Amino acid sequence: MLEGLDPEKIPAHVAIIMDGNGRWAKARRLPRVMGHREGMKSVRAVVETARKIGIKVLTLYAFSKENWQRPQDEVSFLMRLLAEYLQKEVDELHQKDIQIRAIGEIELLPKEVYELLVQAIKKTSQNQGMILNLALSYGGRAEIAHAAREIARACLAGKLKIEEVDEALFASYLYTKDLPDPDLLIRTSGELRLSNFLLYQCAYTELYFTPTLWPDFREKEFLEALKDYQRRERRFGKLSEQLKS
Ligand code: FPP
Repeated sequence: MLEGLDPEKIPAHVAIIMDGNGRWAKARRLPRVMGHREGMKSVRAVVETARKIGIKVLTLYAFSKENWQRPQDEVSFLMRLLAEYLQKEVDELHQKDIQIRAIGEIELLPKEVYELLVQAIKKTSQNQGMILNLALSYGGRAEIAHAAREIARACLAGKLKIEEVDEALFASYLYTKDLPDPDLLIRTSGELRLSNFLLYQCAYTELYFTPTLWPDFREKEFLEALKDYQRRERRFGKLSEQLKS
């Protein structure tokens, strides 16, 4: 059932930078947006696999803050695709006991998408099987700056003492406040960057880069990434010997 994985070492939180949709389409002489459509099928496959093997949180970088700068047609297409995903898939996600959440400046999304998202979050809020966390209009530095502003506000209002601001308190002001840090971050398409994704949260995250383009990243490729992760030793700054004792 666990597809050759060690059940003791299933990562609690996997985050994915879904990259390479445009190149997938270009290689087939198709419009870029067809790559995004095909990429949506990978989203389905990966969500299903994650749920099946017992991952607790899956965060998908679906739309970055920087993605707003893409040509208007592409942005509109991505927004329609997101609306379609939320319309068509929420019932099934709900049946699978999946809780939908979002991180990012979601109030900047078109009204229709925003409303569908809020409805989906509400409808699935009691589900316990897995959290599907969608990063939308998300930027890591913006998230950190936002947390800093909120902390400063709380200090000025006398609700917080400056001495109380430590790493854990800072984390509690991030969008991911009640989620564990990612254990594994996957990026497809051969790019070796974090691209402003979960900058604070990825301090000790294992990174996995694959040349596979996102539309080609399905269950088999996901399981390969998880197996690679399971072979690693996570030391969190300690010595190997210290971990064994
Ligand atoms: C990066 O590929 C991908 C995106 C900017 C969008 C990701 C969106 C999806 C996978 C589909 C919808 C998602 C959900 C959650 C329903 P790119 O366009 O940057 O590819 P390129 O680098 O090859 O040009």
